[in-house]
Amino acid sequence: MARILITGASGLLGLNLALEAAPQHEVLGLVHSHLLVDAPFATRQIDLLDEAALDPLLDEFKPEWLIHCVALANLDACEAQPELAQHLNADLPARLAQQAAQRGIRLLHISTDAVFDGQKGNYAEDDAPHPLSIYAATKLAGEEAVMAVDPDALVARVNFFGWSLAGSRSLAEFFYNKLSAGESVPGLTHRWFSPLLANDLGLLLMRMMELELAGLFHVASPVSLSKYDFGVAIAERFAFDPDLVMATESPSLAYAAPRAGNLTLNVDKLTAARGADLPDVHTGLNRLHALHREGYPDRLRAMAVERVH
Ligand SMILES: NC(=O)c1ccc[n+]([C@@H]2O[C@H](COP(=O)([O-])OP(=O)(O)OC[C@H]3O[C@@H](n4cnc5c(N)ncnc54)[C@H](OP(=O)(O)O)[C@@H]3O)[C@@H](O)[C@H]2O)c1
Repeated sequence: MARILITGASGLLGLNLALEAAPQHEVLGLVHSHLLVDAPFATRQIDLLDEAALDPLLDEFKPEWLIHCVALANLDACEAQPELAQHLNADLPARLAQQAAQRGIRLLHISTDAVFDGQKGNYAEDDAPHPLSIYAATKLAGEEAVMAVDPDALVARVNFFGWSLAGSRSLAEFFYNKLSAGESVPGLTHRWFSPLLANDLGLLLMRMMELELAGLFHVASPVSLSKYDFGVAIAERFAFDPDLVMATESPSLAYAAPRAGNLTLNVDKLTAARGADLPDVHTGLNRLHALHREGYPDRLRAMAVERVH
């Protein structure tokens, strides 16, 4: 049992991670504008852009690990609000790394596959990043700042899907919501990725913490697929009509932020460090379906209270 502080505990990754961690660890989840009710872990509301807010909490809770899941993670919102993206994605992780290092707290910082330009795919940790958007550039600045402050920080570049508080945060929910309503939905054939189920990713991150890993790791599915194939796989798991997923090369709407083509990640470094096979996108899709059957999305929805800002 460890004391773990999780920032962004109302977000897609933070909430699922906190729920996976709570049975084994003492978890304090930090939320901002989305409060949680009856969560099986302690929560605290905080604005992490308030520079004075975190110190007293770190001194009170004394976490052994700080898992930083907060970001402005919407690519188009980052183009619209570049200063906020810089504050949340780059400046904040740099500050947290300092606050954690001063107290001997291990930091697990969450980064993204989007630091790459998607020209090649199968990116390893030593491939040169080339961010295409403000989101990607600020996330890269964040991970670089963390590693400069604390070379022993654990930095995980990830991609994931799952059930969220609002029911609409993840790509899996986008396909599920459209397909369950009998609506056709575009599936991009030229965008490839290696996502994990957020719950599986959470368990894997905790295993990495137990192994005391440090440095930069790609934490993703060893099996990759296109977004079109992902949509078809969701349709098949939930017995929706897979023909509703329309293969397309380009999105119907123009996005503010440029998107990369092939963001698949190479996970050889993590596989060797862990000494066992990693979960993959297909086992994750099976569990996504099983969680739905068990009423998990409704349980998340029941934890949501009205936005406070
Ligand atoms: N989603 C993806 O597909 C994806 C892919 C690759 C990497 N990532 C990375 O994974 C991490 C988690 O992403 P996510 O999709 O789970 O994010 P998310 O669902 O958008 O959640 C963001 C979290 O940040 C919190 N937050 C925002 N502003 C805050 C502030 N001023 N003070 C305190 N908390 C604040 C939010 O709290 P409230 O909601 O309570 O305001 C929320 O809990 C991020 O580092 C992201 O870059 C995401």
